[in-house]
Amino acid sequence: MSPLLQVTSYALQFINKKNMTKEKTSLMEKIVSLSKRRGFIFPSSEIYGGLNSCYDYGPLGVELKNNIKKIWWRDMVQKRNDIVGLDASILMHPRVWEASGHVDSFTDPLVDCKSCKKRFRADHILGQDYLQPGHMKESPETKHIPKKCPECGGELTEPRQFNLLMETYLGVVGEEKSKIYLRGETCQGMYVNFENVRDSMRKKLPFGIAQIGKAFRNEITPGHFIFRMREFEQMEMQYFVNPNDADRYLKEWKEARMQWYLNLGINKDKLRLYRHKEDERAHYAKDAYDIEYDSPFGGWKELAGIHHRGDWDLSRHAQYSGKDLQYFDEKAGEKYIPYIVETSDGVDRSLLTFLIDAYSEIEGGRTKTTESTKETEVVLKLHRDLAPIKIAVLPLSKKEKLQEKTLEIQKKLQNKYMTMYDETGSIGKRYRRQDEIGTPYCLTVDFDTLEDNSVTIRDRDTMEQERISIKELDTFFQDKFYK
Ligand code: GAP
Repeated sequence: MSPLLQVTSYALQFINKKNMTKEKTSLMEKIVSLSKRRGFIFPSSEIYGGLNSCYDYGPLGVELKNNIKKIWWRDMVQKRNDIVGLDASILMHPRVWEASGHVDSFTDPLVDCKSCKKRFRADHILGQDYLQPGHMKESPETKHIPKKCPECGGELTEPRQFNLLMETYLGVVGEEKSKIYLRGETCQGMYVNFENVRDSMRKKLPFGIAQIGKAFRNEITPGHFIFRMREFEQMEMQYFVNPNDADRYLKEWKEARMQWYLNLGINKDKLRLYRHKEDERAHYAKDAYDIEYDSPFGGWKELAGIHHRGDWDLSRHAQYSGKDLQYFDEKAGEKYIPYIVETSDGVDRSLLTFLIDAYSEIEGGRTKTTESTKETEVVLKLHRDLAPIKIAVLPLSKKEKLQEKTLEIQKKLQNKYMTMYDETGSIGKRYRRQDEIGTPYCLTVDFDTLEDNSVTIRDRDTMEQERISIKELDTFFQDKFYK
């Protein structure tokens, strides 16, 4: 079987252990193992041995992913008058990718080991993981070319530029097929629709277009679980501005995007902004920042980007399409190509970061019941709005009357919240099962409920329990989520 298709031991595959302490390796293994065991993330086509760097989101993973996207959309589109949404197609006219510079410059430097035949990204060997595709071409650092294979010490080939765009063909049998690309970034759909959106929505500068969707890159060295994949999802926003205002908006957006992660509970000591040096920027960028997270797999890694793209995109699309994409600024009384400030977040990278940051273990357990005293308890301290399951509903025992009452309560809650019914095992075990997947509240129905119409609500973080009347549940949960 081709090495591309091989997937070995699930928890260990694709975790590059270079630069990782034992403790950090073990944290990543735990995250990968929890993801599979509790239904967050599975390897793609696992029964066929998997497909390298492709993953499927399981029942809890899809909830978490949807919550990330929902909150991003709420904050970037729903709450703003100056930003509107778009859902452009993945397949676009191939000229788009010539105009965007991807056909020529969306490359990474590829080296092969002459002895062990392994393949690497030259800049990864040099430890410059943050560099953008295309950087090595222009970089004065190109002379620092790795010579020795990091795995076996063998001789490496000279780097050659490898294009990351994934190719496919349009057309059916008998017709002439034309080569097109799976989009390498979602933003191009927003540039080519600049005029459509501006005209149909009567937008004046500054305004933004936001989009969430899949992107594809033939990464040379995918890895670190879902951190670097060949098929992934982006949440991008393009803010079109007067060129004189671009620096101001770049500053505003980098602060806003950092704050977004902090608001969702990411530890502030593990988050930083990194400004790209001139020779590290992608071909389109005038200035660029990464939001980085101090990951367990090799330290600071890019989580999201904020880019000053100048007039690169609209000028190039105007040139290649023959369309005049200038904007007439009534206030300034002049015509110009708008500048673009872009915010670009990876859905999968955000999800991995939220999982890593929320993961905590309590040795010996938090609850002093006999079952839990010796066990290590895992609590996934996800922000409540991100949690896949908001409320677990638990009948104290499998008695039919309790089951019925619990299901009746769940039915009401299901209109608004993602809930989970669980009746198996002791109540302590069930609480811990929910802690491990980050459920903020457990609602228990007991024999008293049948008499007093009240239930016990247990808080994941404080473990405090409150008795609440069923008719007050709506008010109780109302101010717990999406504030
Ligand atoms: N439109 C600009 C752009 O695409 P980028 O820095 O290449 O910029 C933006 O990508 C974000 O997309 C990254 O910060 C990361 O979160 C995500 N991303 C990029 N390549 C990825 C990959 N191979 N796997 C998972 N996420 C990726």
